[in-house]
Amino acid sequence: MRIALTRDVSPSLVDCQLTHVTRSPIDIDRARAQHAAYEAALASMGCRIVHAPAAPELPDAVFVEDTAIVLDEVAVITRPGATTRRPEVAGVAETLVGYRTLVFIEEPGTLDGGDVLVMGHRLFVGQTSRTNDAAIDQLSRLLTRLGYEVRPVRVDGCLHLKSAVTAMAPGRVLVNPRWVDPRAFEPADWLEVAPDEPHAANVLLVEDRVVVPAAHARTRQRLEADGCQVVTVDVSELAKAEGGVTCCSLIFST
Ligand code: GLY
Repeated sequence: MRIALTRDVSPSLVDCQLTHVTRSPIDIDRARAQHAAYEAALASMGCRIVHAPAAPELPDAVFVEDTAIVLDEVAVITRPGATTRRPEVAGVAETLVGYRTLVFIEEPGTLDGGDVLVMGHRLFVGQTSRTNDAAIDQLSRLLTRLGYEVRPVRVDGCLHLKSAVTAMAPGRVLVNPRWVDPRAFEPADWLEVAPDEPHAANVLLVEDRVVVPAAHARTRQRLEADGCQVVTVDVSELAKAEGGVTCCSLIFST
């Protein structure tokens, strides 16, 4: 069975962390409706939705991806780079313990799951304002013994590695080459986002379908021309909180 772990939109989302996005008013009811439609899209693709306990006092709690990396063997509980986000991990860990053995990133390491792109047994980890080399070393030590390779990747101009690149098919990535060098992901090959849609590289691959924000129509056309089956969701309110389609779920098999 495929699980999609999600968490409710907090009323405090208006106070979210922002790094590369200018603050603008967020309509919480609309954000909740968009989040519900996102969950419905995942359910229609065969995911069973499991909710981590709501955390209304934590503005960024909806962005569960940053709190854990779920692999077949273990779940790595992160230590988010933004101090305001560190309390988010407890509720996610309490949910994941029912599915995986937990291992933890520890001080002085900081790691956001949005910086980790898993492709098979290779983990690409963005070096960003949220993720430091101490955490990348810890991740490597934790996972090498399980047969994984951890590769640091330089990222410039965006929040997370997965703001700049995500998997769009096995062995193929969608990338904004202005924020990350596509050659870092070789032997994977790549498709570039439409140049006027810099935020469009964040798509969510679920089995053989790709979830794409409605705002990125020209990149959607590129994906379809490339042979992808695209599922469109409107996440415009969550984008104002510097979140994308990968950020709002942790997807794994049981
Ligand atoms: N608002 C998402 C983040 O900055 O972590």
